[in-house]
Amino acid sequence: MVECKLPKLDAAGSSPVFRSKDFFYTAIPAKLILFAYRLVGSGNLFFLCHSRESGNLFFLCHSRESGNLFFLCHSRESRNLFFLCHSRESGNPFCLNSMPNTKKYFTVGPTEVFPQIYEYIQTAREEKIFSISHRSPEFSSIYKNADKYLRQLLNIPDNFHIAFLSSATECMERIIENTVEKESFHIINGFFARRFREISEQCSKQTNEYKINLHSKFEPYELEIPGTAELITITHNDTSSGHAIEMPQIKVIKEKYPNIPIALDATTSVPYYEIDFQIIDAAFYSVQKGFGMPPGLGVLIFKNTFIEKSKYLSANNFNRGTFFNFERLAENALKFQATVTPNIPAIYILSRLSEYLYNYGIDTIRKETELKSKLLYDTFEKSGYLRPYIESVENLSKTTLVAVSDKDVDELCGYLRNNGIEISRGYREKKDDQIRIANFPTQSILATEKLCELILSYGR
Ligand SMILES: Cc1ncc(COP(=O)(O)O)c(C=O)c1O
Repeated sequence: MVECKLPKLDAAGSSPVFRSKDFFYTAIPAKLILFAYRLVGSGNLFFLCHSRESGNLFFLCHSRESGNLFFLCHSRESRNLFFLCHSRESGNPFCLNSMPNTKKYFTVGPTEVFPQIYEYIQTAREEKIFSISHRSPEFSSIYKNADKYLRQLLNIPDNFHIAFLSSATECMERIIENTVEKESFHIINGFFARRFREISEQCSKQTNEYKINLHSKFEPYELEIPGTAELITITHNDTSSGHAIEMPQIKVIKEKYPNIPIALDATTSVPYYEIDFQIIDAAFYSVQKGFGMPPGLGVLIFKNTFIEKSKYLSANNFNRGTFFNFERLAENALKFQATVTPNIPAIYILSRLSEYLYNYGIDTIRKETELKSKLLYDTFEKSGYLRPYIESVENLSKTTLVAVSDKDVDELCGYLRNNGIEISRGYREKKDDQIRIANFPTQSILATEKLCELILSYGR
């Protein structure tokens, strides 16, 4: 792209015109600034337009040789890139990245996806990544990059393996199969925590639970776990209730039961909530939540000590899963290979996205999440009709905010939808009384402010 200096507009925003042999500049009063550049020699024409009003940049190119027209637009608000090409030969327009629906998703998963993902898909298309073999060096280098940046972003130590499965629910099943011979123990703070227990029962294990009182501070000292339990499962942030168990509380459990491994469902907690991998033995999540990706990929992070348990179960004729046993998953992860033909598009996107998030900075992600969650909780209070479902401030989720609504949930969601924002209703039987709002890194501060304004203006 051509770089050039702008002449200063006068206060009235009139239209000065600057011309040289191959370059001219003009400004349309107060609305649009237009550059055009005729590339010396090639005869191609480039136009760069900057809308002062919206802050958007448009870039238009006409190729003299092919006669094709290319139109590239960068939206400042969504950070989306649109690229449109008109072929003179066929007369067909190609829309490589069409103008997207401008609705903002504050749903708790699937949620708004990172706009960068469309660019990654475009690159993958150009490089034909969706056709490569999962045994190729190209795939291994994608896996390696994902592994490297996930370790840096989430602070995952070397003695943990990173494997890819289909979903968080599949991770629950694999963990039970590979680590529990007879008995598991479950800490329940919502429906997803309960799902972990149900899966263990379906795998024919004996189970016990501690049901947290969601409306008073979780006191982990009160827990009594039988010495026979081989695994404790904890849901870091339960998306159905908006209840979060903080790391210091998990540390108390570990100190009380140092010999029982802990599996952490981190589905709606990462990357915001920091995981202390010194006190847990496995963590997992699906990518359609805090990682702002399309659904269809589960990330399983497990300690190498679990491999011995998996081998022991196999030697004693327990079903530890077929291809998906921890021994095989770890062997392949060490070679940056998947056990079966995996969701290569999703692993590619995850690899690029983890690198982006790492460079963006985990501290910035955390500060922004806290700022937005404060904004939202303050808005609930000011609204006069919303209040957090979880009454214990210490366990209020910062990433999935669940509020009880005194106003009709259907109408409220409809009002927000008509104004371009989609939120989630309460989980299952709470769907008519509660709303759930995602506060993941992909929900921008700007969009969150708009949501807060709408909540406050509703019904006034
Ligand atoms: C905390 C938690 N765990 C597990 C799951 C299940 O995820 P998946 O449907 O990807 O298996 C969800 C989905 O909402 C969740 O929020």
